[in-house]
Amino acid sequence: MTKNILVAIAWPYANAEIHVGNITGSHLPGDIVARYHRLKGNNVVMVSGTDSHGTPVTLRADAEGKPVEEVYKSFHDKFLELFHGLGISYDLFTTTHTENHFKVAQSIFQALRDNGFLYAEIRPQWSTKTGKFLPDRYVEGTCYICGAEGARSDQCDNCGNVLEPEKLINPHAKTGDALELRDTEHFFLDLSKLEPDVANFLRERQDYMRDTVLGESLRKIESEGLKARPITRDLDWGIPVPVDGWEGKCLYVWFEAVIGYLSATVEWAKVSGNPDTWENWWTNPEARALYFIGKDNIFFHTALWPAELMGAGERFIEIFAGEEGKTLTLPFDVPANQFMNLEKKKISGSNNWAVWGCDALSRYDPDALRYYLTINMPESRDTDWDWDEFIARNNNELVATWGNLVNRVLSFGYKNWDGVVPTPGELRPADKDILGIIETGVEKVGDLLEKVKLRAALNEAMRLAQETNKYLDTAAPWFEIKSDKEAAGKTVYTAMRAIDSLKVLFSPFLPFTSEQLHTFFGYDEPLFGMQYTEAQTDNLGEHTTLRYAARKARGKWEPSQIEAGKALQKPKPLFKKLEPELAEQERARLGN
Ligand code: MF3
Ligand code: ZN
Repeated sequence: MTKNILVAIAWPYANAEIHVGNITGSHLPGDIVARYHRLKGNNVVMVSGTDSHGTPVTLRADAEGKPVEEVYKSFHDKFLELFHGLGISYDLFTTTHTENHFKVAQSIFQALRDNGFLYAEIRPQWSTKTGKFLPDRYVEGTCYICGAEGARSDQCDNCGNVLEPEKLINPHAKTGDALELRDTEHFFLDLSKLEPDVANFLRERQDYMRDTVLGESLRKIESEGLKARPITRDLDWGIPVPVDGWEGKCLYVWFEAVIGYLSATVEWAKVSGNPDTWENWWTNPEARALYFIGKDNIFFHTALWPAELMGAGERFIEIFAGEEGKTLTLPFDVPANQFMNLEKKKISGSNNWAVWGCDALSRYDPDALRYYLTINMPESRDTDWDWDEFIARNNNELVATWGNLVNRVLSFGYKNWDGVVPTPGELRPADKDILGIIETGVEKVGDLLEKVKLRAALNEAMRLAQETNKYLDTAAPWFEIKSDKEAAGKTVYTAMRAIDSLKVLFSPFLPFTSEQLHTFFGYDEPLFGMQYTEAQTDNLGEHTTLRYAARKARGKWEPSQIEAGKALQKPKPLFKKLEPELAEQERARLGN
């Protein structure tokens, strides 16, 4: 049965470029899963966008002395360039600074208010002596829970706790201004009222969620409960609070950014010409929503976002679409990843201790990067990007195992059988064995991808390539051909069919080289669709989006049915060997 799958990926802040840790944390795993489901024939919508509001972005604009619009747009453009180059196949990559997103976010706010989950309260907030309120990230101090220095007034990165600004010890403003506490009124989302629903939802999803994710969420809620949280801020860059008399206040960036998953689907439906189809993913009880995020975002996706969805639910659909009795789709799984370090140290953009996506793409092929980032994905624990290992795995696995298998079979076959797939006649037991192993492998790799076990899935595909290499070494068609060309033809046919199947198994991970290999086999239709950018204009101005041409792939997640006599294209090597000396050069580029 065809399923509707929403692949929702964390929205990157427009305050820094994307590095390998962000790629392996969320964008790449989301892309692999989306491509797999498209090959299965499922209806996939994969969305995200630039998180354009919030103090991370205004702080960056202040530091550069530039208007915030200019700063968010320049990072947004870099993101589009990276995703295009790396094959992160967003159906829509947009931004939170669109009229559509404002409207959806304000409707969620309105629905929560109508349903009694919001209340206004006056609280003290850090401000300058001139009365300008300072956003949470502008104020740092010592965490009153764990004692760590450098805690922000709303959150401590050391212990992960959400903080009450006025309790921060030894607070000081990043701007150097003297501080004082002043009263200000804000809306609060009463999470305590929604706590039982959130806890129940998490309990129901226990079997799917990784233990690392559930531990962060359910166990925490069970021991500490959920407390009300302010969801508005004294800011002028963001989404205005849609209530009279609240001018000069905006929705809190996390409150509205998560709504982006919904608004991006709405935007996607609109620009695709079927404006109502967003409901196939959002009001259809059969739809599955998968959220790809890093571990620092777990709370927002397992507690805050489900609370917003449950609290706004039916009322939102009434306000927004004029329909009654429908609810919004809750997360099916939140396969959050841990972090990737770099050469044994935490990645730090500001110290240039990072491998930047666009920069790495200027020197390495996208599939080489994707391979290492998947085989080393921090699915259950933190992992490490190590330049020596990147090169060794590229050379020993991609080039020597998979690339070499493809290359020797296709070149040998192309040369000796006049550029067509040999006609095998009756297959021998060994031929049938290897094809049987591959056929089981299609199931097995699919099953692992279904469960978002991406490292295991890629390892399994690589193991099948090794098995095929062994089969080939035993049959040795380059010797067979001297005495018995028919026997050699059986071997080459079998190996080609195995490789044609493996191509599909590798394609979610290595889409560029798989597409290339697909053309060597002489197919006219590509495996996947194409991505392109498009400018959109609304009352907030212009924004550029990255779009994808098809929800379903043209290839299929099935064992190869390649036919004898099929015309081939002259093959070329798929992968490049990398010189070990490159590791030293790369390390020399790193900051400190
Ligand atoms: N911008 C946030 C970050 O980079 C992630 C936002 S994810 C969203 O950590 F769901 F809120 F969109
Ligand atoms: Zn702390």
